[in-house]
Amino acid sequence: MNQNYNSVLSQFKTTQMGASKKAELSNQGFEEWRKYIYDNCGIYFQDNKKYLLESRLQKRINFLGMDTFEQYFEYVKFNVKGNEEKKYLYEAITINETFFFRNQPQLDSLVSSIFPELIAKMKKLGKKTIRIWSAASSSGEEAYSIAMIWNDLMKPRFPDFNLEIVGTDINFAVVETASKGLYKEYSIRNTPQYYLKKYFKLEGKGYQIDPKIMEMVSFKLLNLHDDRAMRMMNTFDVIFCANVLIYFDVNSKIKTISHLYNGLNHGGYLFIGYSETLHGISKAFKLVSFPKTITYKKE
Ligand SMILES: C[S@@+](CC[C@H](N)C(=O)[O-])C[C@H]1O[C@@H](n2cnc3c(N)ncnc32)[C@H](O)[C@@H]1O
Repeated sequence: MNQNYNSVLSQFKTTQMGASKKAELSNQGFEEWRKYIYDNCGIYFQDNKKYLLESRLQKRINFLGMDTFEQYFEYVKFNVKGNEEKKYLYEAITINETFFFRNQPQLDSLVSSIFPELIAKMKKLGKKTIRIWSAASSSGEEAYSIAMIWNDLMKPRFPDFNLEIVGTDINFAVVETASKGLYKEYSIRNTPQYYLKKYFKLEGKGYQIDPKIMEMVSFKLLNLHDDRAMRMMNTFDVIFCANVLIYFDVNSKIKTISHLYNGLNHGGYLFIGYSETLHGISKAFKLVSFPKTITYKKE
């Protein structure tokens, strides 16, 4: 393996090229890349997404000064430095679209029903902390939106209770952004003025989240396709896994949802994206309806 890796690396040194050169991804190359990506992170590039994969990998290939998709494939497969390149591969291929208050009906259902129900249950058990996981959190907007509504609407009513939120994503760059809590105009485009004024501070051209909101949330790298890492994520009261299943095929959806089911406490809730469904994926949950949204309950 090492020999292969070294020979690939030494090749690059002699084949450096201009930043804008374009390689060609053959159909066979596409099949190989698609399988490799799918096996490693569950993302499945449909046939009509070949151009997308091609253009995203091309940027990284140019950055590394390589000539072909085959060279880069060898490099990714045989890079022995702690999977360093895989990190950049995931950064290149993931779509990280998100924004604050993206799904208001889901937030409303937390406030009107789910938080009060969880708190009533916790009072009986003598517990004080509600745990939420924002799986595939991207740059953290979803996690911070939940923290803001808790702080604003629930904390004054239930001062003895705490909310702890963990955000995870496979893309290290968005996890870094989330940890800093500094956002561009684009992320706050749907944020109510009230929350903007109360929980953000203008810093240069960015919007910095209030430290008391930031301390409720932590972020880390996590691949939803990594069975070992997924088994460590448990005892959550609510899990948000929104707008990521759309990139998976049925088998990786089934696997991910089964991990999320195990990660929930009994009586816990799973939220997925507005356009996503568990139909044909899992029968383990009870479907619960709220105004303009649904959620999946682990009974
Ligand atoms: C479109 S964003 C959704 C962000 C947020 N949940 C929302 O609904 O606004 C999808 C996120 O899923 C992440 N993702 C894709 N595959 C993943 C995997 N296998 N493990 C963890 N995160 C993954 C991407 O990096 C990306 O940030």
